[in-house]
Parts: sequence; C-alpha cells; structure tokens
Amino acid sequence: MSGSRRFEKRVALVTGAASGIGKATALKLAGEGAAVAVVDRDAEGAEATRKEIDGLGARGFATVCDVSRSAEVAAAASAVERELGPVDVLANVAGIGDPAGFDRIEEIDDAGWDRILAVNLSGPFYWCRALLPGMAERGRGAVVNVSSLAGRWKSANAGVSYSSSKAGLLGLTRHLAVAYGRRGVRVNAICPGGVDTPMIRSAAALERSAEAEAALRERLDAYRYFMPIQRLSTPEEQAAAVAFLASEDASYINGVSLDTNGGLYVA
Ligand SMILES: NC(=O)c1ccc[n+]([C@@H]2O[C@H](COP(=O)([O-])OP(=O)(O)OC[C@H]3O[C@@H](n4cnc5c(N)ncnc54)[C@H](O)[C@@H]3O)[C@@H](O)[C@H]2O)c1
Repeated sequence: MSGSRRFEKRVALVTGAASGIGKATALKLAGEGAAVAVVDRDAEGAEATRKEIDGLGARGFATVCDVSRSAEVAAAASAVERELGPVDVLANVAGIGDPAGFDRIEEIDDAGWDRILAVNLSGPFYWCRALLPGMAERGRGAVVNVSSLAGRWKSANAGVSYSSSKAGLLGLTRHLAVAYGRRGVRVNAICPGGVDTPMIRSAAALERSAEAEAALRERLDAYRYFMPIQRLSTPEEQAAAVAFLASEDASYINGVSLDTNGGLYVA
C-alpha cells in the first residue's frame, strides 16, 4: 500500500471487483480511503472482496449485477447511492474473453458476438449512463474504463469480437471525455497487455482440443517472450494505473488510452 489517502471522503464503484484487476482496484481505492461499491455477477467473490475492504478499515458494499443487463445496472446504481452516497469514481473493469474465433470469423455465431459486446461495451455504457449525469451535476467525477491492448491493436489471446468490444470502449471513453470534461468529469481508459488473472489463465481451458490447447500455450509463451518487461503484469500494477487516473494526481488528464502493457505495443 502506498500510504497516500487520495480517495478520502470519496465513493468509488468498481465493476468486476470479485476477481483480478477489479478486485485489486477495489482494494487499492479502499486502501487509500474510499468507500467502495463492489459490483460483480459473482456474489460469493464480491462478498469476499467486501470483507477484505472491511479488513482495511474502509467501508465496502457488495452488490450482484450482470453489467450487460441495463435494468440490473440501473437498480444496482440506485442501491449503491442509497447505501454509500453519490459516486465520485467509476471503474468499469468487468469484462469477458472470447472463447471462439481467434482467427476464424466464421466460428463466431451471433449470440457469441452479441454477448462479448454486451458485457465489454454495453456494460460500461450502462454504468456511464447511470452515473455521469449525477457527477456532472455535482461538477466532480472520474471514470476509468479498462480496455485492452486488444483495443489499441488486436487481441493476442481472444478473437475479433473481443478486439472490437475493447476498441469500441475507447471510442466511448473519448466521446464522453470531450462531452463531460467541461462539466468537471474526466473519462480515461487503461489498455493492459497480459495480466496474470484468472481470465488469462483460463484461456487455455476454454479451448476444446489438446492440440488447440498446446497451440494456445505456445502463443502465450511467445507473447511473454516478446514483452520488453518479460513477464505478465500483476493485477495490482493495473490497479495502480486506474487509481492514478481516478485521482486528483491526474486532474489534467482526460480522454487518454493509457498503454499499461510493459512496452509490448508502443505508439
Ligand atoms: N487479464 C488480462 O490479461 C487482461 C488484459 C487486458 C484487458 N483485460 C481486461 O481487464 C478486465 C478485468 O479482467 P481480469 O483479467 O481481471 O479478469 P477476471 O476474470 O479475473 O475478472 C473479471 C471479473 O468480471 C466479472 N464479470 C464478468 N462478466 C460480468 C458481467 N456480465 N457482469 C458483472 N461482472 C462480470 C467476473 O465475475 C470477474 O469477477 C476485463 O475487462 C478484461 O477484458 C484483461
């Protein structure tokens, strides 16, 4: 923990906070003084994160919500604001990988395409729609969207639906940054490369044949080899970037897509 208290008297809401980058972000913000709403579709994982927030001496509130469902997002937003008060920081972290069609577009059916877009792009849209108007009214707020290297270039471990969803999320980020900057709300994104979380570790398990699994492992090894910082990132390293963009340390940063990939993709 850094020892700084940048989020004292602030309320933060983190989606996907039951696991990986979202969990690390929730704990980072709580560790720096925020009251944190833990949002996830995984009730048990969300409650476990809330307990860890308790252990840090911060205020946590867990709520179950599938971010791809507009009505669930609206209900969860109201529940969080009733419990913790107006939200100052929104971190859209929840996301899913794409088990089909790494290279073959014909393997992606309509339902698979729709599901990836619904979780990774519509989810952040629903959350921004629920919370940005209040932030703008109060003249204060910060949103950080977790996109991906896949949104800046192409995915190394998932398919075209994933890359498209993450590129779309950067468009959402830029548009809202310009529209809401004048109303005191900053909107930014981070673009992680490989992060050591259940998402990347389960990528191999999603493959159907032993042959495909071996090919995927080879691809992951090659991917790691080409990383200038020759390892995957930790979730905490990504959480540190989210917290920076959400904090007053980044008070003049609005609309950026911050590459948090160890130099794997530089532009
Ligand atoms: N791990 C990586 O290498 C990597 C790289 C780039 C970007 N990302 C992005 O980072 C974000 C977090 O991924 P992670 O690696 O921590 O994965 P993770 O699987 O560890 O965590 C994702 C969390 O999101 C939740 N979630 C998934 N779908 C949801 C839904 N519909 N509603 C509510 N919650 C839902 C899951 O339950 C889980 O707790 C994702 O948006 C992912 O695309 C990850």
